[in-house]
Amino acid sequence: MPVILCHGPKGGTGTTFVAAHLAMGLSAEGADVTVLTFAARDTMPLHFGLSQAISLPSLTAPADEAVLVGGINLRHWTRSADDADLLPMLNDLGYLSPGKDRVMVLDVPSGDWRAARRIAQAACAHVCPLTVQPDSLALLPQMFDEAGTDGLSRTAFVINALDETRRLSRHGAAFVRELAGQRLVGRIRSDEAVPEAMAMLQPLSRYAPASAALSDVRAISGKLVDALHSTDPVWIAPSAASRAA
Ligand SMILES: Nc1ncnc2c1ncn2[C@@H]1O[C@H](COP(=O)(O)OP(=O)(O)OP(=O)(O)O)[C@@H](O)[C@H]1O
Ligand SMILES: [Mg+2]
Repeated sequence: MPVILCHGPKGGTGTTFVAAHLAMGLSAEGADVTVLTFAARDTMPLHFGLSQAISLPSLTAPADEAVLVGGINLRHWTRSADDADLLPMLNDLGYLSPGKDRVMVLDVPSGDWRAARRIAQAACAHVCPLTVQPDSLALLPQMFDEAGTDGLSRTAFVINALDETRRLSRHGAAFVRELAGQRLVGRIRSDEAVPEAMAMLQPLSRYAPASAALSDVRAISGKLVDALHSTDPVWIAPSAASRAA
């Protein structure tokens, strides 16, 4: 049962948005999906049309306390992402073992990079959303140096909130493409409908079914689904890479 880690090197790059929509994409393909959030006041519920004030049940809370939206089980890890019990508990619950029918998507805040590095080793994929703003890009070379090739073997980069009408954005995207190569699996356009849907407490698919960002994030989720169904355990398979943005 695959664990998919969503974690970016910088806050505010759309990690929660991407995690929510990957979960929806996997669920639409028939997987039994659990989303695990780590931040106390997370925006995750907003992407599902729920109020941010809702208190999500813990990972081990009984099924009758579950918050299910469209079949997706929303849970909150109440301890630190660094907690030594996290991976053993995921293992006990049957995640981290082979199988594709039950999937867990983890939305780990950017500040928890040490924990994220550890979780990435156990996960079947690490999706790393970036923006092409200079403050986000400046962290990338260091991230590549620290992680090394093996450390990034399951990492797929996604450029989020891209505005291709701006020269700086185009140059930033070219920089990421050069650095990440086949690990860049897609880009999501900047789209005002994303925050608007959150403000309206509606899922993006209901608020703006024709949203550019929705169509882009669905394409990325489709690649992830394909990869989970391939025999290659690493989702940055050459076949996925050749379809990269
Ligand atoms: N493609 C997009 N176009 C426009 N706005 C976007 C897009 N993706 C995300 N946003 C907006 O950017 C903001 C940050 O997104 P999100 O909360 O997903 O980022 P995050 O990386 O999880 O942030 P945090 O570090 O606070 O956890 C939100 O207001 C969201 O609506
Ligand atoms: Mg977040």
